[in-house]
Amino acid sequence: MRATTALRDLVRETELSIRHLIQPLFVIADPGASEAVDTMPGIDRLSINELVEEAGDLHAAGVPGVLLFGIPSAKDDVGSGAYDDEGVVQMAVRAVKKAHPGLAVMTDVCLCEYTSHGHCGFVRDGEVDNDISLELLAKTAISHAEAGADVVCPSDMMDGRVGMIRHQLEEEGFPNLPIIAYSAKYASAFYGPFRVAVDSTPEFGDRRGYQLDPANADEAVREAKLDLDEGADVLMVKPATPYLDVIRRIKDETGAPVAAYQVSGEYSALKAAAQNGWLDERAAVLETLTSIKRAGADLIFTYYAKEAAEWLR
Ligand code: PBG
Repeated sequence: MRATTALRDLVRETELSIRHLIQPLFVIADPGASEAVDTMPGIDRLSINELVEEAGDLHAAGVPGVLLFGIPSAKDDVGSGAYDDEGVVQMAVRAVKKAHPGLAVMTDVCLCEYTSHGHCGFVRDGEVDNDISLELLAKTAISHAEAGADVVCPSDMMDGRVGMIRHQLEEEGFPNLPIIAYSAKYASAFYGPFRVAVDSTPEFGDRRGYQLDPANADEAVREAKLDLDEGADVLMVKPATPYLDVIRRIKDETGAPVAAYQVSGEYSALKAAAQNGWLDERAAVLETLTSIKRAGADLIFTYYAKEAAEWLR
């Protein structure tokens, strides 16, 4: 059954489709500051106007959704730009939804792009305070919902944040808003290029106090089940390729929709090798995306969504 394309097609177990790919995008508050991200060839920090145009191109190419990350013009120690109604993501969501109502607009809910210290939560005495952080994260999610986001995606890894956000969404009149929880988010070296893009490298310490240890998988399953109980609609594993076993386990042990995030370092490694002529980019990227799907992911966040849309058409 492997001899010809027709025969192979008949027994293929995994189908990769553009319908399951989400493009993460960076939007910058200062319109004069839009520029390429050096660590991620092909990816730009977009002004809101450029973002609206890019979102339109993606939608036309068949990409069903985008995930927005904001780069504010100023940061402070409480990350107030994250929950400002006139903040960069809030304005970006309104602009994109107005221009392209059919495109699913998802938002990353986290404080690290907005805090001067670069941590994902509120810092007291040099440590992230989990419970105060929850209040700020919930405020952030509500402000995204009010701006018109279709889905909120908390990525901070604080304990109890999904429950808190779910509760506040109910209170504030958004009982149907889905939450895609970054449930199994590892303390990974593969976020390096992203942190340059949004300038969120922690000023002190690292994120190992709240993100998962790469050596642990049982713990990831436990986290995923907690998020499901707290009201998450989709459970995310991140990064993707180094954690295919975790994707499979969470899928099998919860039966819930699972998302995987092919992160900046996975993208940039593939790009760099391709640019050097060391890898056939299209074949290598489609192979990684297929393997993520095969492992059990229903949807995939990937900086390659736009290119994949071309390759898969
Ligand atoms: C914010 C956040 C990060 C990523 C997504 N949301 C960075 C981090 O935790 O340091 C990484 C995305 C990527 O590397 O592509 N907490």
